[in-house]
Amino acid sequence: MDLFNKVVEYVDASFKGKKPHFERAVFWMEKFYPNFTEADKIAAYAHDIERGIRGENEGDYLNPDILKRHSEGGAKIIGEFLEKNGADTETINKVKHLINKHEIGGDTEQNALMDADSVSYFETNAEMFVNEKAPKEGYEKIKEKFDWMFNRISSEEHKVFARENYEKWSKALEAYKK
Ligand SMILES: [Fe+2]
Ligand SMILES: [Fe+2]
Repeated sequence: MDLFNKVVEYVDASFKGKKPHFERAVFWMEKFYPNFTEADKIAAYAHDIERGIRGENEGDYLNPDILKRHSEGGAKIIGEFLEKNGADTETINKVKHLINKHEIGGDTEQNALMDADSVSYFETNAEMFVNEKAPKEGYEKIKEKFDWMFNRISSEEHKVFARENYEKWSKALEAYKK
């Protein structure tokens, strides 16, 4: 089995099932980053691995300390997995570099992953935030998350791919406005 498929197996097992969010993140990463390599593909699929291993941080989506722990923790987890599975140093370092900043961006390649994550989020996760999280956590908390996920996208060109879903789910969320 090649390295990417080992990562897929590991991520899917950690989340107890396949998450479309990760497949779509790979799709958008390839679109947003012209020099897409195996490391980009692995980073896109595994970017949220920390959550699979440590569990969800309910309702504290934008806390900078939690985002940092989530990103850096995920980079460390996948780094160790890749090392155990014989990946070369260059691949390991690239994957860690990308996952480290997948929530806040940084260089062009890190921004591409952050943008891919956002576009995929509105395709695959936002509906669950409306239907399952908003009833418990309220409109404001989820709208804040939606706005943050949309606004962080690093270019207008990439926002185009998220806008329709962002608007659709923001509107659906209004049902939970007090
Ligand atoms: Fe994340
Ligand atoms: Fe994500």
